[in-house]
Amino acid sequence: MSQNAIAMARILVAYATKLGSTREIADVIGAELHSAGHAADVLAMNDVRSIDGYDAVVIGSALYAAHWQRDANRFVHRHVEGLNAARLWAFSSGPLDAKLAAQDLPMTPNAAEITAELRILGHRTFGGRLAADAPIDPQVLATHPIGDFRDWDRIRRWAREIALALDVVG
Ligand SMILES: Cc1cc2nc3c(=O)[nH]c(=O)nc-3n(C[C@H](O)[C@H](O)[C@H](O)COP(=O)(O)O)c2cc1C
Repeated sequence: MSQNAIAMARILVAYATKLGSTREIADVIGAELHSAGHAADVLAMNDVRSIDGYDAVVIGSALYAAHWQRDANRFVHRHVEGLNAARLWAFSSGPLDAKLAAQDLPMTPNAAEITAELRILGHRTFGGRLAADAPIDPQVLATHPIGDFRDWDRIRRWAREIALALDVVG
């Protein structure tokens, strides 16, 4: 540990979801950061009033038609300064395809645009989940793959990388 290490960082994991699967990813990231010795709050972006006092923030949004959720757009614009005052990581959740989910896909152009003013230290795209009984238009449901493509090991590994980065550089 360097002398700049944050012994116990306060971390916010803020997510934007439509059908809940991105919240579960955020929960797992929060749990992993917690077990690495940090204090992590996991909150829906809409429920975040202020990000003052957080040493680090992880933001994540579900992808629909290659777009981050509107909540994520609003959150980023509301908190640009606070986000840039913290150490910041980002993830997208989406691909309903095992091969795509295993790749290191870059941000979509829309997500890149939303986050253009942010200083993001790292981004991952994780596979998503679409349940057969998802409460969406049945015709839309019929045109998308059903399944859970979230790779929990990959998600946990990334969270540990974040924890390590916080341990190494304050
Ligand atoms: C109508 C629709 C459009 C989608 N578009 C994309 C997309 O453009 N890119 C992508 O990676 N995933 C896409 N997905 C997959 C979702 O991102 C995936 O189901 C994700 O896990 C949903 O997150 P949520 O449960 O947090 O809402 C789409 C799913 C639906 C139902």
